[in-house]
Amino acid sequence: MRTVELGASGLKCGALAYGCWRIARTWNPTEVTADIEAAGRRAIHTAYDAGYTLFDNADIYTGGVCERILGQALRELPAMRERVVIATKGGIRRPGEPNPGSPHRYDSSAEYLMAACEASLQRLQLDCVDLYMIHREDFLGDPEEIASAFDRLHESGKARFFGLSNFRPGFIAALLKVCRQPIVTHQLEISLARLAPFTDGSLDQCMAERMTPLAWSPLAGGLMGDGAAKLLPAQRAYKLETLLPVLDEIASARGVSRTVIALAWLMRHPSGIMPIIGTANPDRIRETAKAADIQLDREEWYRLFVAARGEPLP
Ligand SMILES: NC(=O)c1ccc[n+]([C@@H]2O[C@H](COP(=O)([O-])OP(=O)(O)OC[C@H]3O[C@@H](n4cnc5c(N)ncnc54)[C@H](OP(=O)(O)O)[C@@H]3O)[C@@H](O)[C@H]2O)c1
Repeated sequence: MRTVELGASGLKCGALAYGCWRIARTWNPTEVTADIEAAGRRAIHTAYDAGYTLFDNADIYTGGVCERILGQALRELPAMRERVVIATKGGIRRPGEPNPGSPHRYDSSAEYLMAACEASLQRLQLDCVDLYMIHREDFLGDPEEIASAFDRLHESGKARFFGLSNFRPGFIAALLKVCRQPIVTHQLEISLARLAPFTDGSLDQCMAERMTPLAWSPLAGGLMGDGAAKLLPAQRAYKLETLLPVLDEIASARGVSRTVIALAWLMRHPSGIMPIIGTANPDRIRETAKAADIQLDREEWYRLFVAARGEPLP
């Protein structure tokens, strides 16, 4: 797979990333069996063999089990660690933690981020992650405090680079004014089923600030593949009936699958969108990697954009 630089970090990785959200096949940690864990490790190794080198994770994925599986997969293949970019996220707190009545909430306080990163490192069995991201924008988030947490994580050697996920451009602008560590990625839901980042300033800001946009659910959780996945992101109002025939026509002309075209469509944008794929199926992992070799032309891109909008451009 061709490689790209992550923001202005100097870190190089494959042009598509592999997401670990679904590798445990359930949200419930008590349902995860040894067989599921082994299949998760195999999926990670298949992705690595197919050229994926950025592995995305988060502390909340199956209550930390997905980080543990990634850590075990790295241990099983020791040469892998120095060739990959390990990314994880923190900052979402589950209901009932730490007290029975505590609500589901976001927490970007320095104290919480430091503790969350440390807990992720323990599950991953690593001393340092390459990329640490705040999972969701904390409505009580203080840019100065986040900047100081990033400094402390960097100085203590626990995180090399930093990123954000699901933030508004306005908050990022405020953070960039005070942050001494470069913010190298912004992870967002971007797909033919979710076009908002093309018009709400998010991708413009990524280009202006040299942040690589990481696209989560780039196939809309499977709706652009062979059907709805079990763990679906929020339902999206989009025009499958006008989109799928155009995807299929371009896919057939190019001799690849519909999902490869849906991913190549994201990668055609000048902001350098990096899709994070989420399949745990080995054949699909290899198939989706082909998107790195397809360069759509303007006409193809606009045909898909208009079909996804479901209405002509002005
Ligand atoms: N920052 C955030 O808030 C956030 C939120 C959600 C996700 N993420 C990240 O984004 C990653 C990807 O999200 P996602 O899993 O929703 O991505 P996705 O690639 O849009 O969806 C993957 C799902 O589609 C299914 N699928 C059906 N047909 C497929 C085909 N032909 N090719 C590929 N997949 C097909 C897969 O099932 P099979 O496994 O059976 O193939 C899998 O369940 C996650 O792993 C996570 O790292 C981040």
